[in-house]
Amino acid sequence: MRPFAAWATLFTSLSASVLAQTQITVNVASLLQEIDGFGVSQAFTRAREFYETDPIPRQKGLDYLFSTETGAGLTIIRNRIGSTTNDSILPRSPGSPSGAPQYVWDKSDSRQVWFSQEARKYGVTTIYADAWSAPAFMKTNNNEANGGWLCGVTGRSCASGDWRQAFANMLVQYVKYYADEGVPVTHLGFLNEPDYVVSYSSMQSDGNQAASFIPTLYNTLQSNNITNVGLACCDSIGWPGQRTMTSQLVAAGMERYLQIITSHMYTGDPNSPMATRLKTWQTEGCDLQSRWCTTWYSNGGLCEGMTWANKLHTGIVSANLSAYIYWQGFEVNQFQAASYLVASDGKEVIPSGRLWAFAMWSRFIRPGARRVSSSGSVSNVGYGAFKNLDNSVVLVFTSNSGSAQNVRIGFQSFTPTSAIAFVTDNSRAVASLAVTLASNQVTVAIPPRSVVTVQLNKVIGPAPNPITSAPVSSTSALPLPTSTASACAINKYGQCGGQGWNGCTTCATGSACTVINVMYSQCL
Ligand SMILES: *[C@@H]1O[C@H](CO)[C@@H](O)[C@H](O)[C@H]1NC(C)=O
Ligand SMILES: *[C@@H]1O[C@H](CO)[C@@H](O)[C@H](O)[C@H]1NC(C)=O
Ligand SMILES: *[C@@H]1O[C@H](CO)[C@@H](O)[C@H](O)[C@H]1NC(C)=O
Repeated sequence: MRPFAAWATLFTSLSASVLAQTQITVNVASLLQEIDGFGVSQAFTRAREFYETDPIPRQKGLDYLFSTETGAGLTIIRNRIGSTTNDSILPRSPGSPSGAPQYVWDKSDSRQVWFSQEARKYGVTTIYADAWSAPAFMKTNNNEANGGWLCGVTGRSCASGDWRQAFANMLVQYVKYYADEGVPVTHLGFLNEPDYVVSYSSMQSDGNQAASFIPTLYNTLQSNNITNVGLACCDSIGWPGQRTMTSQLVAAGMERYLQIITSHMYTGDPNSPMATRLKTWQTEGCDLQSRWCTTWYSNGGLCEGMTWANKLHTGIVSANLSAYIYWQGFEVNQFQAASYLVASDGKEVIPSGRLWAFAMWSRFIRPGARRVSSSGSVSNVGYGAFKNLDNSVVLVFTSNSGSAQNVRIGFQSFTPTSAIAFVTDNSRAVASLAVTLASNQVTVAIPPRSVVTVQLNKVIGPAPNPITSAPVSSTSALPLPTSTASACAINKYGQCGGQGWNGCTTCATGSACTVINVMYSQCL
């Protein structure tokens, strides 16, 4: 193991920097929301495509998503509970709501079982299973797509009867099948964007209609002795819509049945807390506009890593989120889209700036961590502070500043004994960064347009990326990083050119910028 404590001690003899510093103070005893983690989905055949990728790129893809050494260290996956005749565990109607259901289980679930099992090998224990719709025969429109309501919810009845209990039974059966495969589902949802009607799996609901089903689902779990699955609602298309649904759920007394309030971000990002005592998760967000890009920062576009670094910061620090989940993790030959974090052409595997934005949080702030309060602000730099279950303390700085900022961090109810720091910016991905520890204060220079993660009192790992440059020499007192284009170097597999590319075009030693197609050149 790398003796972090030893080389941090080296810094303690350094005198304070001569550069101007902003002082902030972290109160480690003042605990805020618990962090459950960060994650992705492989819904809608993406788990199957991942599974069918050649073994070497497949393993690289898994490492990029889940490794705390070389990847993002993600800790949550979101699976889709199928509702079509070829992916539902209840493809055929039992004739009536009280008819005997003929469940079908192929032990694969479009390879989401495999994906979940692989994630578990990296220590992932949070599995959110979510239904986009009930099967067609349980709905007002007799179709699992195009909206429609679950028969029996408030204001929606069907000639075929009230299917709420049958739907609850089916969802509980799905949880049991996963348990049989060694994958305990920890969170269960039954809606996806219920305020948006689309021509694929979708089912409508408002908060009151959800409240007319939630106790049935809760009681069905209880009567099956399943007490460790938390219910989640409602995966609204955006934060404003979920606010409305949450207020209806709270008014209807649903907080006693639910564990998590869930929302997407397509019509509005999480920007301030939901009015609930429950945890809140952002369960699906992505760039639906751009082609695949690996850019960290260029012009603030939606596919850039820095953009998602800001969304993560705002969600966790300003909106009290306990989890943040991007849409998809790994996709093959989908270079027309940026709705996922890691791309492959079937041979090479390419991480995005978005992946590294997640890494700056998820590698270091582990499930069960608590956000802690702090005081002091840094010009154009947002930050959050966290206490892990192992008592290490993590600060994540998100800088939108065009120049470097020096920050000195003091603590209440905590004594820092070692400090390490990592940076992601236009030329580095989770690379070591100089940090000093002296007189119980930690000082770090935050480079422009970067995320810097500082970890205190962490003795073992996580290691920096092996592909990045060595830590800055400990003999220089807080050098401000240079940001000249010529000093840049793209890591192997990173983007170095292509139509519209404004970023660095120099590859790190050991790789060369190679034209893949007109849109995309890569360091290989
Ligand atoms: C279900 O099967 C049909 C026909 O084989 C196919 O077109 C469709 O993509 C499948 N749906 C899913 C969700 O797998
Ligand atoms: C639940 O547990 C109780 C008490 O142990 C037992 O009597 C009952 O049969 C169990 N129910 C199911 C569905 O397993
Ligand atoms: C933040 O979320 C927690 C639940 O995780 C809740 O208890 C707390 O009241 C929320 N804080 C604010 C300011 O909304």
